[in-house]
Amino acid sequence: MKNILENIDDVIDDIKKFEIQSITDKLEFQRKFSGKEGLLPQVLSYFKNLESSEKRKFGPQVNRLKNAVEEKIRTFNKHLIKEDVSYFDPTRPLDLFFPGSCHVLNLVTEEVCAIFNEIGFEIEEGPEVEDEFYNFSALNFPEDHPARDMQDTFFLDVTGKSWLLRTHTSPVQIRVMQSGKPPFRFLAPGKVFRCDHDATHSPVFHQIEGLFVDKNVRFSDLKGILEYFAVRFFGPGTQIRFRPSFFPFTEPSAEVDVLWSQYGNRWLEILGCGMVHRKVLENCGLDPEEWRGFAFGMGVERLAMLRYGIDDIRLFYENDLRFLSAEMDH
Ligand code: PHE
Repeated sequence: MKNILENIDDVIDDIKKFEIQSITDKLEFQRKFSGKEGLLPQVLSYFKNLESSEKRKFGPQVNRLKNAVEEKIRTFNKHLIKEDVSYFDPTRPLDLFFPGSCHVLNLVTEEVCAIFNEIGFEIEEGPEVEDEFYNFSALNFPEDHPARDMQDTFFLDVTGKSWLLRTHTSPVQIRVMQSGKPPFRFLAPGKVFRCDHDATHSPVFHQIEGLFVDKNVRFSDLKGILEYFAVRFFGPGTQIRFRPSFFPFTEPSAEVDVLWSQYGNRWLEILGCGMVHRKVLENCGLDPEEWRGFAFGMGVERLAMLRYGIDDIRLFYENDLRFLSAEMDH
């Protein structure tokens, strides 16, 4: 040991020359120098028991050794963070400067819920595995209507009954209306599933459903609330337009586009909506002469892509640290 202390410069040289390029190299470095059985802890415990005169003599050397080991590991960790963020190193100490962040899809969902919460909308949830009744029939999709295939449903064949992964959040409308008493005013955020996969479609994505049922609810209420939302979410001066559309569960129906001036003044769709179809109200035991409502369903990925200028939907799910740690204004 004494020998080592006297030739500490050679050891420090070895440490400096040691190339740590991979996790295997790092483990080897730890085995030799910094780990429990490595050189540094051995030198330190030997040093602890030295006479004080010797301590004074070797103190600076021991310090240099310690610094060299620490410096080596620090450089390697930095290189990992900068060069290859997808590289997973289980031995790397927790980086306190990047403690994790809220996923942008959760940020957007929370923000939308907060905006609607202020004007009296509560939050509801429904199951991701549904049956045909809640996903289609109760929503007035005719039995053999092509609309059922249109959405490219994932069917699950369990216990002889045909279950499916919900293709939209609209079944939550039915579940809430069936189990409670009007008036209703809620948002239902959640995952939805369709067989689709490319740069703008993912087989799993997120929607936020909205339902407002009361006496004397009119289309102008729907318009007013969505215009209010667009301005709150995208900023003052945001313009939206209502385009006539079709959904079996609303009549009349519309799709809403936002005017996107950054992208050459294009109208981009953000949601579908309409007045709740009287058949849907009846399916839930409500009298359409007494109760009226509107519903809407927005795509969370779509809102996030527009708001943050994200052009590939796959970025949301790949969990690349560069994407996850990007600053999002909030
Ligand atoms: N469920 C529709 C869709 O997924 C959206 C929608 C919701 C339309 C509510 C009207 C009312 O496309």
